Amino acid sequence: MDERIAVVTGATSGIGREIAAGLAGRGYRVGIVGRNPVRAEAAAADLAGRAPGARVDTFLADLSSRADVRDLAARLRDRYRRLDVLVNNAGVHTLRAKVSADGFDRMIATNHLGPFLLTNLLRDLLVASAPSRVVMVASEAHRNAGRLDVDRLAEPGSYGALGSLRVYARSKLLNILFTQEMAERLQGTGVTINAVCPGMVATDLTREVPGAGRFGPLAARTPLLRTPEQGARMALRLATEPEFAGSSGGFYSSTPGARLLPASAASKDRELRRAVWERSAHLAGLPAR
Ligand SMILES: NC(=O)c1ccc[n+]([C@@H]2O[C@H](COP(=O)([O-])OP(=O)(O)OC[C@H]3O[C@@H](n4cnc5c(N)ncnc54)[C@H](OP(=O)(O)O)[C@@H]3O)[C@@H](O)[C@H]2O)c1
Repeated sequence: MDERIAVVTGATSGIGREIAAGLAGRGYRVGIVGRNPVRAEAAAADLAGRAPGARVDTFLADLSSRADVRDLAARLRDRYRRLDVLVNNAGVHTLRAKVSADGFDRMIATNHLGPFLLTNLLRDLLVASAPSRVVMVASEAHRNAGRLDVDRLAEPGSYGALGSLRVYARSKLLNILFTQEMAERLQGTGVTINAVCPGMVATDLTREVPGAGRFGPLAARTPLLRTPEQGARMALRLATEPEFAGSSGGFYSSTPGARLLPASAASKDRELRRAVWERSAHLAGLPAR
């Protein structure tokens, strides 16, 4: 059988690094994506040490940049003849608004437009490799998104610490709406896509939050926060376990108690997700259909 290939974005730290380690340990050749060469090489060395014999390749790309994502997709297609698993995990929570190279809000560009474009550009390879799986690392935070203004989806603006929570939440709602719409468009291809919330995990995600450096390590010793390895578990199950082979379009939360909550209204709105798809395709420079 051909070597199985997995690509994990944001695998230089936190949850993504543990997802990549889990896939390497399960025999996948893993392509890890990050922005920083030093961090990417350190992560690759760590993974190779933890899964002896594993093949790990590094790819540098800033997912908030359309040009970088296009270049990344081309390099992945050059390097790999198949793609069995794509985990769109990279994400940021910036406390102050920043603008991406293409003029978009950088948090929305990184967390939503980047994975939207990357998955679409790799769609043919995933279909040719079917059965194959895509996993989107979303969040229960999507429940705090408020009203989504589709026409101004990625418009840069200003926000402070509190406003940043809303924008982060919107980016995670966009992950879920993308998952649902993509699942529908992939029906019958043998490619599945599901979203996951890893729970609250002690990582670098909140590095900009005042006090996180001091209180984060303390909280990490309590049951409040999970370790990155625990945070990676559900994504790994969705990516690899036979139990999920035929499931697509779902949102699987590993936040304790969250399964008892009803789905958010926005995540049940079919018109909203269609509109989000069309607007995102326009912003990402893809045809709408
Ligand atoms: N931690 C939590 O409690 C929690 C809860 C729910 C959901 N999540 C989600 O889990 C995912 C992983 O977050 P984490 O907590 O593991 O955070 P993290 O430790 O900060 O890891 C984020 C990863 O994303 C990469 N990244 C960030 N911006 C990027 C860009 N523009 N281009 C390419 N790569 C980029 C980073 O790589 P470099 O900085 O090395 O380039 C890093 O590898 C995110 O999608 C986050 O929204 C986390």
